[in-house]
Amino acid sequence: MSTTPIPELITHKGFRMIKGIHFPHEVDQIRDLELRDSDVFVATFPKSGTIWMQQILLLLKCKGNKDSICKKDTLNNGDLVPWIEGPEKVQDFVKAEHPRYYVTHLPYHLIPQELSRRRGKVIYVARNPKDVLVSYYHFHKSLLVLETPKSFDEFFDKFMRGDVMAGSWFEHIKTWFSHKDDINMLFLTYEEMIQDLQIVVKKIAEFLGADLTQDQLNSVVKHSTFRNMRQDPHANYEKTDGVLINQQAGCFLRKGTIGDWKNHFTVAQSERFNEVFKQEMKDFPVSFIWDIK
Ligand code: A3P
Repeated sequence: MSTTPIPELITHKGFRMIKGIHFPHEVDQIRDLELRDSDVFVATFPKSGTIWMQQILLLLKCKGNKDSICKKDTLNNGDLVPWIEGPEKVQDFVKAEHPRYYVTHLPYHLIPQELSRRRGKVIYVARNPKDVLVSYYHFHKSLLVLETPKSFDEFFDKFMRGDVMAGSWFEHIKTWFSHKDDINMLFLTYEEMIQDLQIVVKKIAEFLGADLTQDQLNSVVKHSTFRNMRQDPHANYEKTDGVLINQQAGCFLRKGTIGDWKNHFTVAQSERFNEVFKQEMKDFPVSFIWDIK
């Protein structure tokens, strides 16, 4: 008889998290972590380019020399640039060698307080929420710890209610962005990474104070393209097949494009989304290049 637990979301301090993967007592410890100036957190709402940033940070760390990344005993890039809210990651963080690179889907109010004392750095990556929704829908079909949606329509409603892991996209970006000037933050979009990865990689290197030659930067860009990441078993999470992901049903590196929402949303869904977006983001100071009208 199968003992696979049914995926379930719980809410802790406003964070929608996965029961059995995220533990409230561990999440609570994150706020008090002592940081070093060299610590870097990539903050994203899921499906906005988290694993892309994992690859870029690892490559910057080894100055583009991909073969020098020590992957011994690791299944995927998530072992080297882990989610801080993952199981037992807090104790790993304390012991980890610096520079420590971590990713997170946590809302601003649950991250280490020392960030607001300008210790450590944050790279926030935002993506057109319509594309996030579509990417997240497909991801739910393959990730074993998330409930498989009954239909796109059902998932659409859940996303709009914020009833997905990490909660409301709108709240996530608004609260993080409102603290942009309180912490050392670089704000990027998935769309600018698609448009010109070379420029974005250079921006990230400068933000981190990483000193790379042009050839080394070119190598970082080369190994972070969608095509090359797809062929890299650590970057594409191939080795977690059957454990974390059902690769038959989908994968992290699905399409890697802008505007796939147009293949999924009905006209009514797009209009409803635009209305909510307009309302929720009316005071947001940035207009995005994805241009939701
Ligand atoms: P799609 O499902 O639209 O293809 P996350 O890492 O936050 O879960 O985000 C996953 C999304 O980022 C997926 O989007 C994935 O294809 C995309 N992605 C990852 N690496 C990428 C790359 N090198 N180029 C373009 N998109 C990438």
